[in-house]
Amino acid sequence: MSALEIRLATKRDLKALLAIEEASFDEPWSAGLLRSELELTATRRYSIATNGGSVLGYLGLMRIDEDVHVNTIATAIDARGQGIATRLLLEGIEAVLAEGGRHLTLEVAATNLSAQSLYRRFGLAPVGVRRGYYAGGVDAIVMWCRDMDSGEEMARRAMIAASLGSEP
Ligand SMILES: CC(C)(COP(=O)(O)OP(=O)(O)OC[C@H]1O[C@@H](n2cnc3c(N)ncnc32)[C@H](O)[C@@H]1OP(=O)(O)O)[C@@H](O)C(=O)NCCC(=O)NCCS
Repeated sequence: MSALEIRLATKRDLKALLAIEEASFDEPWSAGLLRSELELTATRRYSIATNGGSVLGYLGLMRIDEDVHVNTIATAIDARGQGIATRLLLEGIEAVLAEGGRHLTLEVAATNLSAQSLYRRFGLAPVGVRRGYYAGGVDAIVMWCRDMDSGEEMARRAMIAASLGSEP
């Protein structure tokens, strides 16, 4: 993973994002929706992880004042379990903190245990359930991490980064 690079996504990355999106979600976003998300640069921040030019994962954040919503995150199937989503979150959180974000929130399918495990490591805790939020009536668990700028949360992320062998 030493060659992994994280940078902001551009519309030129759309095709690669779409391929990961379609492989990752039962109800993938369309090219049009992804494109419009990339264009909403005032409130959205889309970053991608690349290795040797290949896009391996992406993270979409939306900031509303101090609240930051994880709109989407996905890693290419054959690149999972190598810390890519972890690195994207570490980088994205520091960036939105610098822009005035403080609290992190998201919805995750009750059935998506690997994503929930990733989020819990980042200090996100379940605070509620949206019944039947996803296709097929799957519930969404709403998770929050308040005060990402607190000493406790900064120390948590520093430990995660150290476990990956890099700084956030
Ligand atoms: C959820 C998802 C984004 C995680 O991506 P990922 O890049 O595999 O995530 P990471 O590698 O950072 O972490 C996943 C696991 O690998 C482990 N891991 C991280 N780096 C590792 C390494 N170098 N060696 C071995 N394991 C490692 C982590 O500890 C983590 O374990 P955990 O599941 O027990 O928490 C990915 O599974 C995915 O794209 N899923 C489909 C889309 C989706 O569900 N998105 C979330 C919507 S809410």
